[in-house]
Amino acid sequence: MAKLSINVDHVATLRQARMASEPDPVAAAVAADMAGADGITIHLRGDRRHIQDRDLKLLRQMVKTALNLEMAATSEMIEIALQVKPDMVTLVPEREGELTTEGGLDVEGNYEQLNQAIGKLQLNGMLVSLFVNPDEESINASAKLRADYVEINTDSYASARGVAEQITQLERLEKMAALAHRLNVGINMGHGLDYRNIVNLVQIPHIHEFSIGHAIVARAVLVGFERAVREMLDSVKRSR
Ligand code: PXP
Repeated sequence: MAKLSINVDHVATLRQARMASEPDPVAAAVAADMAGADGITIHLRGDRRHIQDRDLKLLRQMVKTALNLEMAATSEMIEIALQVKPDMVTLVPEREGELTTEGGLDVEGNYEQLNQAIGKLQLNGMLVSLFVNPDEESINASAKLRADYVEINTDSYASARGVAEQITQLERLEKMAALAHRLNVGINMGHGLDYRNIVNLVQIPHIHEFSIGHAIVARAVLVGFERAVREMLDSVKRSR
């Protein structure tokens, strides 16, 4: 059965919009935990536009399930990860000014930089996941780098228009998950997932974890955080 990690970045986005102290992503993580979430994900960006260093430190202390830190493979971020030691680091590309992570890593193009980052993080007891697009080259290269997991970018599926295109993208994700499984790389998935499109995705075998943020925070504004998490868990726990 797949796990669900709740990305609380957008709770911090709302806080930072007013440079206030509320809402606190740490409080959201407590609510997610009470609802039964399997873990918490945050993205500490170079520009600190939502999650702050203080959030990471507090979450490291209170998250007893699994804390996943998304970050770019920069020396600043690697230093922070080595100090704070999240359970898992998901390496992502970061472009200044982007609204959200725009795509997966160019694994081949950044092979040496990633190799060094993965080595340091794994040596210090962290699991490492690489956020990649659903293509064979990225998954093969991630296996060669001995990443513990790939997080397969689900954006092309989530933004597909029409049933035929959605099925095409779903089949592509299924094929890439099968490839990662054959190569002995764990499979996470995320980006753009919501209460509707998750339903088909949970049928894909061997998925370790889904990482979902925006849709859950958006629903939480209207129905409360615990209920929003529980409703997503209902779907994810129907997975194979
Ligand atoms: N995975 C990665 C690597 C991401 O960058 C994000 C967005 O922060 C997510 C998952 C979650 O995406 P969403 O907020 O669309 O659920």
